[in-house]
Amino acid sequence: MTIGILGTGAMTVALGRRFVETGHEVVIGSRDPQRARAVALAIGAADGVDHRAAARADIVIVAVQDSAALELVGALAAVLRGRVLVDLGNPIDPPHFESRYGAGPSLAERMAEAAPGARVVKAFNTVYAELLEAGRPVQVFVASDDDAAKDVVAGLVTAIGCEPFDVGPLRVSRHLERLAGFEVDLVERGYAGATAAQIVDLRR
Ligand SMILES: NC(=O)c1ccc[n+]([C@@H]2O[C@H](COP(=O)([O-])OP(=O)(O)OC[C@H]3O[C@@H](n4cnc5c(N)ncnc54)[C@H](OP(=O)(O)O)[C@@H]3O)[C@@H](O)[C@H]2O)c1
Repeated sequence: MTIGILGTGAMTVALGRRFVETGHEVVIGSRDPQRARAVALAIGAADGVDHRAAARADIVIVAVQDSAALELVGALAAVLRGRVLVDLGNPIDPPHFESRYGAGPSLAERMAEAAPGARVVKAFNTVYAELLEAGRPVQVFVASDDDAAKDVVAGLVTAIGCEPFDVGPLRVSRHLERLAGFEVDLVERGYAGATAAQIVDLRR
């Protein structure tokens, strides 16, 4: 199963490296294929290409700056139809890191609208890249209306040594994006170097 990661920032490097280490074929996509190739080379990924080519992977992870994510996904909608599309973006801005969308639909829900037929899963947005880089076995919340797609992403989470936690349908991504805002607000005020919220399920 190939994984395409769009963007060349901290999350691409952290997740891409973990996926490569666990034997997955990873392709990096960028506005600048040369930058994608440099990142691919640095982490041992199969190739660095433009966004459209990377979006032909079995699983496509959108790891571009959140403000650019919807336009990019809209432009790639035809390619993304039927693919598992992972949104890890956080539509939050300084100074207080509340959701840019208020109580309205989340970035993930808007992504599902922008790319009809894509199997959108929200995941990884509450985990700091540094924790993934450090190999910490953190909990990763996974939300989607597509249970099979959610299982695929949960499998990836398990493969990199983290703990998938199914939080329910895609609408729950509204909470996940606000939770990330809370984490970033804490970090920006010096509470911790990096965060990943955890839920203890007493039924287990
Ligand atoms: N950093 C973390 O610890 C962390 C943790 C959880 C979630 N997130 C979320 O993950 C997403 C990616 O964050 P990140 O920290 O990895 O990287 P980032 O600094 O947000 O940028 C990621 C990539 O987005 C592309 N990009 C930047 N500005 C753009 C623009 N105006 N138009 C189109 N593409 C643009 C760039 O890739 P190219 O120039 O190569 O195309 C860049 O490498 C964000 O939504 C963030 O909230 C981050």
